Amino acid sequence: MWDYTKSVMDHFTNPRNVGKIENADGIGEVGSLACGDALKLYLKINPETGKIEDAKFQTFGCASAIASASALTEIIKGMSLEDAAKITNDDIAKFLGGLPEQKMHCSVMGKEALEAAIANLKGEKIVEHEEAPVICKCFWVDEEKIRHVIKENDLKTVEDVTHYTKAGGGCGGCIPDIQRILDEMHGSAQKPQQEQKSGMTNLQRIKLISETIENKIAPMLRMDGGDIELVDIEGKNVIVKLRGACAGCPGARATLQNLVQETLRKEVSPEINIIEASQ
Ligand code: FES
Repeated sequence: MWDYTKSVMDHFTNPRNVGKIENADGIGEVGSLACGDALKLYLKINPETGKIEDAKFQTFGCASAIASASALTEIIKGMSLEDAAKITNDDIAKFLGGLPEQKMHCSVMGKEALEAAIANLKGEKIVEHEEAPVICKCFWVDEEKIRHVIKENDLKTVEDVTHYTKAGGGCGGCIPDIQRILDEMHGSAQKPQQEQKSGMTNLQRIKLISETIENKIAPMLRMDGGDIELVDIEGKNVIVKLRGACAGCPGARATLQNLVQETLRKEVSPEINIIEASQ
């Protein structure tokens, strides 16, 4: 169960401004049902003041998606378009007294719907980042969006990016690309320094990963009839295969992230990413 604030629960159970505005001046639609979240935002502008007179939304999503959309409409009503354009996803989260880190992508969806609605209102073509390569095919997130969210929220790790965009939260195949983008944006100069700080050669690091899996992680999985095999190590990416009861288990993804990755990050290096080998 997520640790939601009272405000999130209030906006979820009693969402404000739900519905559609007929003859809206601007409509912004983001997300897709295939990816689990979708939001459509309608804006009505007062022709005399130029301010947002009404804002309504329709959404398909979880409690925090509904609460974020509700909060967004409350924030922007009465604002000028210039001020509304400055709203960040962090403003939406703060309005709700905070969101669980893993749900920050809901506030990002609200910000994107607002950007799309303002662009639509101004008659601008909605930028679809047509040239930007799609990095995460599970959630259809392109590189442009990942870079934008990293910059706007000062994200540092792949996990952060997953929390804010969902990219990397499915099969995990895009994790190396997300890490590459992070390295490019933060400067890969940090990497050798951190490796050096640990005082380990590459060979020692490989040995420690292997021993940690064999002596600490595998025994825990074996207690529940599962097992794990180290398949390969490519830089920071540790490729493993779950065996026994763990293979094909609905909680496999959580096991890889919460047990395997966290243990290796603690014991070896905070930069390690776990990738599941294709069966
Ligand atoms: S491609 Fe990104 S999680 Fe599957």
